[in-house]
Amino acid sequence: MSLINDLNWRYAAKLMNGKSISDEQLNMVLTAINLSASSYGLQPYKVMVVSKPETKIKLQEAAYGQLQVGSSSHVLIFTVPLKITEEYIQNYISLVAEERQIPEGFLDDFKKTLETTIVALPTDVQQAWATKQAYIGLGTALVAAAEQKIDTCPMEGFDALKFDKILNLEEKGFKSVVMLVLGYRAETDTYANFKKVRKTMDNMFEMVK
Ligand SMILES: Cc1cc2nc3c(=O)[nH]c(=O)nc-3n(C[C@H](O)[C@H](O)[C@H](O)COP(=O)(O)O)c2cc1C
Repeated sequence: MSLINDLNWRYAAKLMNGKSISDEQLNMVLTAINLSASSYGLQPYKVMVVSKPETKIKLQEAAYGQLQVGSSSHVLIFTVPLKITEEYIQNYISLVAEERQIPEGFLDDFKKTLETTIVALPTDVQQAWATKQAYIGLGTALVAAAEQKIDTCPMEGFDALKFDKILNLEEKGFKSVVMLVLGYRAETDTYANFKKVRKTMDNMFEMVK
């Protein structure tokens, strides 16, 4: 039941108290993201980790002034590649071969599948697919943080083009899709006391007979 208690404790914080989480705690959240499932195992996203106050303030401005950004400890910006290329796939194949100690040739069919199903997609469809994978990482991070009593706010409410500029993402070949603010809730954040609003279990689930 402790997972359910953690999930009940968690809420989308609207104001943090400015205190930093430890390197160890940050590393736990990042490791949880890294261990998340992804389609084909391709992990087609990269997470930018921001703790510098000046950068957080710039991000807050581009997030319509939402205060949890500037008052946070760290901001994680989930980004997806502008294009998943054959080279990207090749790098992944090499990694699988190395980690599992198998010849790359054993992975020829898998590589072909990735090229025909992912590389061949139109860019916008490819980016949408990569974004879905990034959201799985976001979900894992929310749970991992709650388990350590670290507060969070998942956020889509920002001007992605401005974020891309602030973080030089285009140059790096990525674009921002969603972010996660990490920190400790401010005592004055009234949202912490709001009752959770959720669908009833009957409305949300149907046992198919
Ligand atoms: C993908 C996503 C984007 C969100 N964007 C914002 C946001 O920009 N600003 C904000 O204050 N909350 C944002 N939220 C938080 C939701 O409003 C919140 O999770 C929801 O109201 C349920 O409340 P709870 O998380 O406190 O239980 C976002 C949540 C998700 C999952």
